[in-house]
Amino acid sequence: MRTQVAIIGGGPSGLLLGQLLHRAGIDTVVLERRSRDYVLSRIRAGVLETGLVDLMHEAGVGARMDREGFIHDGTLIAKGDEQFRIDFERLTGRHVMVYGQTEVTRDLYEARDAAGAPTLHDCRGVKPHDLDTAAPFITFLRDGAVHRLDCDFVAGCDGYHGPCRQEIPTEVRREDEKTYPFGWLGVLSETPPVSDELIYANSARGFALCSMRNATLSRYYIQCDLSDSPDDWTDDMFWDELKRRIPAEAAERLETGPSIEKSIAPLRSFVCEPMRWGRLFLCGDAAHIVPPTGAKGLNTAASDVHYLSNALKRFYHDRDDEGLERYSETALARIWKTERFSWWFSSLMHRYPDQSAFDLRIQQAELAFLRDNEAAQRAMAESYVGLPY
Ligand code: APR
Ligand code: PHB
Repeated sequence: MRTQVAIIGGGPSGLLLGQLLHRAGIDTVVLERRSRDYVLSRIRAGVLETGLVDLMHEAGVGARMDREGFIHDGTLIAKGDEQFRIDFERLTGRHVMVYGQTEVTRDLYEARDAAGAPTLHDCRGVKPHDLDTAAPFITFLRDGAVHRLDCDFVAGCDGYHGPCRQEIPTEVRREDEKTYPFGWLGVLSETPPVSDELIYANSARGFALCSMRNATLSRYYIQCDLSDSPDDWTDDMFWDELKRRIPAEAAERLETGPSIEKSIAPLRSFVCEPMRWGRLFLCGDAAHIVPPTGAKGLNTAASDVHYLSNALKRFYHDRDDEGLERYSETALARIWKTERFSWWFSSLMHRYPDQSAFDLRIQQAELAFLRDNEAAQRAMAESYVGLPY
């Protein structure tokens, strides 16, 4: 087999890249370890920055998002029973789109199928070779046989646990990481959202988030101990704790119901540099991770895809490799600003086990400053709706 760009990973990064390249007449093959059903079973945040909304339209997959997505002009920040609103539209002239990542992935798969672009599922032992040459190739196992895919470039879109990052020699690769001393216990319920907009809540008992997927499907999170397991939390325990952490007026109107999904995710900040090694280019979670506060994982993957797809188009259409040469530097400049925002928002909204009385007063002062200062609100809103690409 041969293609121009081999894409390892059939998540949002790989699929969005594949679709943008296909529309530019550049051939790709996606090699995905899991089945399609497995990929589409993942529950992930669905808050799309304006940049990603634009990319979905550029990729020709924006129709269902426009029909079924929810435009949010702001978000609510709560501290105990007090809450205030960050008005994205007034502060930035922009908004976000609430549309599940699963739906983004589904739309991209359907578009790829319709284009007849090859996506190979259930690929095992995917291994890039000769990345430091002009003729890289990939070997992988599938249907009991070893296969080889020759290509010009390899896009490492294989997520945090994928193999591509490891292809960058350790003496070249720098990894910066921060882990957080708590997790997020998330519940999906077939109940109407408690609020038209998201509520991020800082309470004495810890963080909580009220989100949604649509008018009849809600997504809620509470900060939990890293030692917790979903089985430690019955639905009633979860709802009772959520009600203790969100403003009383929201707790009173909260409609509860059986959880149809319940899981715990650890929080991590992580960046791998560089994002390129020879003909390998890393995209999305393969190169960086953010804590979910502010829903920047998918959106940062999207900005990588924007930069890499344009660089590859410039190479193939104009035989100009400057975009490829500058990809890592360009992508990392925006990635670190988003890492900062996600770290800041997490620091603002969570209770840390080692927080001193002074730390707590500073956190409360930061919240009060955000509540009272329009410049602080604009700075937050600019990051939340998405920094420019
Ligand atoms: N071979 C082939 N595919 C692989 C391999 C491998 N060895 N390892 C991992 N993969 C696949 C995974 O099965 C997954 O489908 O790569 C894909 C990576 O997808 P994601 O982890 O979703 O990462 P990305 O596409 O960058 O999307 C980032 O996903 O994890 C969320 O919060 C994150 O919202 C962000 C988004
Ligand atoms: C979600 O809906 O899953 C979600 C929304 C916003 C976040 C994180 C997760 O910051």
